[in-house]
Amino acid sequence: MSLKRNILDLRKRKEEVLQGGGEKAIEKQVKMGKLTARERVRAILDEDSFHEYDLFVEHVARDFNMEGKVLHGDGVITGTGTIYGRPVCIFAQDFTVAGGSLGLMHARKITKIMDHALKMRVPLIGINDSGGARIQEGVNSLAGYGEIFYRNTMASGVIPQISVILGPCAGGAVYSPALTDFVFVVENISKMFITGPSVIKTVLGEEISMEELGGARVHAETTGNAHFYAMSEMECFDQIKKLLTYIPWNNSKKAEAFPPQEPSGEFKIEDIVPSDPKLPYDIRHIIQSITDGSEFFEVMENFAPNIVIGFGRMDGNTVGFVANQPKVLAGVLDCDSSDKAARFIRYCDAFNIPIVTLEDLPGYLPGVDQEHAGVIRHGAKILYAYSEATVPKITVIIRKAYGGGYIAMNSRHMRADFVFAWPTAEIAVMGPEGAANIVFRKEIMEAEDPEAMRQQKIQEYKEKFANPYVAAAKGYIDEVIEPEQTRNMLLHALAVSENKEDRGPAKKHGVPPF
Ligand code: HXC
Repeated sequence: MSLKRNILDLRKRKEEVLQGGGEKAIEKQVKMGKLTARERVRAILDEDSFHEYDLFVEHVARDFNMEGKVLHGDGVITGTGTIYGRPVCIFAQDFTVAGGSLGLMHARKITKIMDHALKMRVPLIGINDSGGARIQEGVNSLAGYGEIFYRNTMASGVIPQISVILGPCAGGAVYSPALTDFVFVVENISKMFITGPSVIKTVLGEEISMEELGGARVHAETTGNAHFYAMSEMECFDQIKKLLTYIPWNNSKKAEAFPPQEPSGEFKIEDIVPSDPKLPYDIRHIIQSITDGSEFFEVMENFAPNIVIGFGRMDGNTVGFVANQPKVLAGVLDCDSSDKAARFIRYCDAFNIPIVTLEDLPGYLPGVDQEHAGVIRHGAKILYAYSEATVPKITVIIRKAYGGGYIAMNSRHMRADFVFAWPTAEIAVMGPEGAANIVFRKEIMEAEDPEAMRQQKIQEYKEKFANPYVAAAKGYIDEVIEPEQTRNMLLHALAVSENKEDRGPAKKHGVPPF
C-alpha cells in the first residue's frame, strides 16, 4: 500500500473509533444534558492540547455474546494535554460505549495513563461516567478495578488525583474516586452509589430514585464524598482549573507563586467579630480580610459547614485554611467536621502547603448521637493529622478555645510553629458558665441567692481563665495581637517558616484512626 493509502486507511479507522457508541447513544447522552467524553476532555484542557492514546484498543471478552462485538476504544478515552500550559494526564469514560462499563482492556488503558502520570509526576484527572464493572467480563473487570485502586493508593500523596463524576457511577466507578484527593459533582448529572436502585429493589424490595440514593447534592451535603459541587459541566471544569492554580504539580514541588496582592478592603477585620461572645459571625470574612485579593477557594463548602477548609494566597503563595465556623453549631468539632479537616490537613501536608488555623470553638459536640457515631474515633483524626503534619502550621485564636477544641485546633502542643491570640481569646477547659456550675456547685447551692452567687463565680472564672494571658504566661501562645495585625503577623510567620524542616521518628507509617 502506498503511503497515501496508508494514511487514508488510518484516517478512516480513526474516524470509526471517534464515533464512540454511535449516533443513537450519543443522542441519548446529549438528551440527558451531558457532554460526550471527548467534548469533556477538550473543555477541561487548553485548546488543541489533547493527545489521545490507545484509540485502537479493543476488548477481549468472549462470553455473553461479546465475541465480535465492537466497543470503540473499549469505552474510555485516555491521553495527555495541558492546563494553563502545564501537563496533565487524563481519562474519560465514554458512557455511549457499553455504559462506560469497565472491562479488562478499558482498565488497562486507565492504569497505563495512571502509571504515566505517576512516572511523569503530573496530576491525573479522571472523568467517571460508568456503570461500574462490565458484567459480561466477570472477574477480569474486578481485577481491572483492583489494579486501579492499587495505583490510586500508590499515587496518593505523590501527584494530585482529581475525579469528576459525570453520569450514573456505580460500584468500582465510585471507589476509585473515593481514593482520590478531590471529587467534583454536577447537579442533576452526577450519581454515585455502590449498588444501584435496581439491585436495591431486588435485594431489599425498596424503590428509590438514583437522585435520592446518590445525587450530586447528597454527596456534597450529606455523605461528604464530593468536594466541589457545580450547576453545570462547564462550571465544574472551571472549578477544576481554579483548583489547579492553588496546588503543586507533585509532592516535590510547591504550588505556583502568583504576584502578591493586598486584600480588597471589602472586609474590615476589626469589625467582623461581634463584641458579645455569644453572637455568631462568618469566619470566611476573616479569611477574606487577610488573603491576597480577599480570595478564598472553599473546599467541601456544603458538608459539615461548622468547619471551613480551603485555599487562599498570602504574599502570592498558597495557604491552606482550617477555620471553625461560629455561624454553624458555634463551630464545634464533631464526627464530620473532624473527618473533613483531618483529610484536608493531610492533603496540605503531603503537598507542601502551609496551614493557617483560625480558632473559635466551644469544644467537641456533646450528646449521645455523637458519642455513638464515634466522635472519639473521628475526633482523634484531627489530633493525628495536626500532630503528624510537618508543613508550617500557624494558629490564630480569635475567641473561644475551650477544652479538647483548644488542643485539637493546632495548639502549640500539636507542634504549631506559631500561635497568636487576639485579646478576645478565651482559653480554658470549658466555658465560664459550665465551669462555674461544676467547680462551685456546692457554694452556689448553699448561697442565700444561688443565682447571684453563680453569676459571681462565672465572672471570677472569666477573669481568671477566659483570656489569652494565662496561656501567654506559659508560652503556649507566642503573642497576643490586635486583629489588624493578623495579616502581617501571618505573612511574617509564613516567610520565616519557608525553609522549615521537621521530621518525626523513622517508621514505615503510622496507624491513624481511619
Ligand atoms: C455491562 C453495562 C453496565 C455494566 C451499564 N451497562 N452498566 N453493561 N456492565 N456494569 C450498559 C447497559 O446494558 C446499556 O447497554 C448501557 O450500558 C446503558 O445503560 P442503561 O442501563 O441503559 O443506562 P441508565 O438507564 O442510564 O442506567 C445506568 C446505570 C445502570 C444506573 C449505571 O445501567 C446500572 O444500574 N448498571 C449496573 C450497575 C452495577 O450494578 N454495576 C456493577 C457494579 S459492581 P445497551 O447495550 O442496552 O445500550 C462493581 C464491582 C467493583 O463495579 C466493586 C469495587 C469494590
